[in-house]
Amino acid sequence: MKVEALPAIKGNHNLANYEEAYASFDWKEVEENFSWSKTGKINAAYEAIDRHADGAKKNKVALYYRDANRDEKYTFEEMKELSNKAANVLKQHTDLQKGDRVFVFMPRSPELYFVILGAIKLGAIVGPLFEAFMESAVKDRLEDSEAKVIVTTKELLPRVPIDELPALKHVVVVGEDVKEEGKIIDFFAHFENASKDLEIEWVDRRDGLLLHYTSGSTGKPKGVLHVHNAMIQHYQTAKWVLDLKEEDIYWCTADPGWVTGTVYGIFGPWLLGVTNVIVGGRFSPDYWYETIEKYGVTVWYSAPTAFRMLMSAGDELVKKYNLSSLRHILSVGEPLNPEVIRWGMKVFNKRIHDTWWMTETGGHLICNYPCMDIRPGSMGKPIPGVKAAIIDDHGNELPPNRMGNLAIKKGWPSMMQAIWNNPEKYESYFIGDWYVSGDSAYMDEDGYFWFQGRVDDVIMTSGERVGPFEVESKLVEHPAVAEAGVIGKPDPVRGEIIKAFVALRSGYEASEDLKEDIRQFVKKGLAAHAAPREIEFCEKLPKTRSGKIMRRVLKAWELNLPTGDLSTLED
Ligand code: PRX
Repeated sequence: MKVEALPAIKGNHNLANYEEAYASFDWKEVEENFSWSKTGKINAAYEAIDRHADGAKKNKVALYYRDANRDEKYTFEEMKELSNKAANVLKQHTDLQKGDRVFVFMPRSPELYFVILGAIKLGAIVGPLFEAFMESAVKDRLEDSEAKVIVTTKELLPRVPIDELPALKHVVVVGEDVKEEGKIIDFFAHFENASKDLEIEWVDRRDGLLLHYTSGSTGKPKGVLHVHNAMIQHYQTAKWVLDLKEEDIYWCTADPGWVTGTVYGIFGPWLLGVTNVIVGGRFSPDYWYETIEKYGVTVWYSAPTAFRMLMSAGDELVKKYNLSSLRHILSVGEPLNPEVIRWGMKVFNKRIHDTWWMTETGGHLICNYPCMDIRPGSMGKPIPGVKAAIIDDHGNELPPNRMGNLAIKKGWPSMMQAIWNNPEKYESYFIGDWYVSGDSAYMDEDGYFWFQGRVDDVIMTSGERVGPFEVESKLVEHPAVAEAGVIGKPDPVRGEIIKAFVALRSGYEASEDLKEDIRQFVKKGLAAHAAPREIEFCEKLPKTRSGKIMRRVLKAWELNLPTGDLSTLED
């Protein structure tokens, strides 16, 4: 299908000439932007905050924060001091050490960022959790990583199964009137008087920085480990792809529970010393447009689901706000529909730039740049320093226009360092020198990549990656459920919704009430976004002879597609 290209934008972009940069760029060049290239002392939080606080940007606003109850701003110097204080609370009251895992389980607030940065300054590995997680989701992640500390709020504390986690030594609670007993520590009781001076823990570039749990098609969520070396990619992609400049006001809408919210909600902008806007609370079209107007946001990074929801809120709403500050808009997480790009041109008078990457890749890999023509529907081209290709299942590169596995040549700076506790899983991502993404795609004759779908059964719903196995496992814990198969069903706003096929145990009658009960069970046990929006009862699920549920067959039924090879079907 031929789609009309949108021409490159004229102007002064950080990446001025894509082809030239692609031909000559070497990652080594980036290192001189960091103080460690001179001092040999490495810590990503130091580079993101303290380096600016100790220099000319001391009084520059690092963070604008707002939610329904708060409206605050912090300079780089204040961010340095407050993250030092948070580090001192952790150091003195939890003995958090280099390499220890500390989880943050709380909604967005300035304190969340002080704690993340403070923990990194101690050399600890930070595992961010979505506030939507329920008890079993929290437990799986803390258990697998043997976390020593969790920082949470009073509201979320009941979802932390403290007594079932022997490795967990301390639970730091951010909130008012926290009662210190057992493992519980009151954050604010110690924060106020904590010292604002700190000896930063210097690390090796291969030491752990972030541990993001993400879902695959089988098994429990996996801990993707990123290391301090990733800052090289965070810096360079924030420069080229986000096109951040000194005077920009940047807003990334993602929560740090998601890799976009750490890499491009913390490191990207702050490594470049750029003013960062963080907004707490739920999605709301008015509030979002108001945020752009209030701060004069120039660079805005969001997701297709959010753009589609803004689109359905109507064009009249956009006109109520002055959004003329916007210079550059980007999207990540799911395919960006050409229709959304056209809408963006109409209401913002700007192209929306699609970016492709994954939790495992730790940073942008294939993107659209202001200096490049856009082909709506394409993820763009690999960033300079990255080789991408379409390969077959044996690692052979395929010619243009052939669909296959989207793969990246090993060796970009932010590539995951490990899957926590699971070297076999880590190895399984690679064929020879290729990292295999699990996405299928093709490349056209001009080198643009086009996303086609997931190779596996992973579901992307409203930009969140949900493993069907996790949902199925929770479903079968319900007393009425004998077996369950879960698929992603295409949805115009959410990308996909979760649909569950459920076979009931004998003695249970199918009913709408039972569906609702099952849905609530997953919602309360796992997370709201993991609960199936649709449930269909069936007698029996299609399974292989070895007993594996054939989700591909369920999907084909659902979409009225041919079921393909059924030779391994049970009967
Ligand atoms: O299927 C791809 C989809 O999101 C997956 C990665 O999900 P996650 O690890 O949660 O990280 C998302 C944000 C970094 C990919 O395997 N995906 C991500 N970006 C795009 C996309 N699909 C299509 N177009 C994109 N731009």
